[in-house]
Amino acid sequence: MSLKAIIYDLDGVITDTAKYHYESWKWVAEQLDFVLTEKQNQKLKGVGRKECLDKLLKWSGARISEAEKQNLLQKKNKMYLKYIDTMTPNEIFPNFKEFNTLAKSEGIKVAIGSSSRNAIRIIDKLDLVLDFQAIVDGGMTPHSKPEPDIFLLAAEKLNCKPAECLVIEDSQAGLLAAKKAGMKSISFGEDKGLKGAQLQIKNWSFADLDKLKHLFDKS
Ligand code: G6P
Ligand code: MG
Repeated sequence: MSLKAIIYDLDGVITDTAKYHYESWKWVAEQLDFVLTEKQNQKLKGVGRKECLDKLLKWSGARISEAEKQNLLQKKNKMYLKYIDTMTPNEIFPNFKEFNTLAKSEGIKVAIGSSSRNAIRIIDKLDLVLDFQAIVDGGMTPHSKPEPDIFLLAAEKLNCKPAECLVIEDSQAGLLAAKKAGMKSISFGEDKGLKGAQLQIKNWSFADLDKLKHLFDKS
């Protein structure tokens, strides 16, 4: 088996949106009378919007009606989109574009597999729409990460088998989803606590395409 496709997570792999999510979820936490820590915010990475609110409710012990949940979700997203709408291509992580261009020049297909229902809007703000052959977001599948649906749909769109795909992820939910999809994975970033990836890459300047290809040598 050889490396035929790379499926990138978006948030935390191509750009840093976690800080914007954090600001917006902190406001929701305040409404629930508790303070959201940075450590808790880490646990929201890769997790769908509704499931994030469920976690906040669990941590706060608050009980609210379905209508109140919908209201908070709407307000959270409105607040988040205000940050997103200020984004420019300057917020693409350094060296990502170079890596992606090299991968494509070697015939590797590339897609985005994100839990975010705002993925296309963010990619558009970053002016990256034409850089991928497929974009799958959290609104396109029944289940979001840690379930494998998003990555499986991305592989299908690229016409590749799961075993030919490599996922690049910064969240535990995403690495679990890759494993469930039967795909190899790379953990991206400095978090040493992430489990299940074949390799860790601190940032895009450390991404070595040949090394990634070798992960497929023995499979
Ligand atoms: C990404 C982020 C999560 C976020 C999820 C849903 O996976 O890492 O922190 O909760 O997307 O994002 P959305 O933009 O749909 O609220
Ligand atoms: Mg992420």
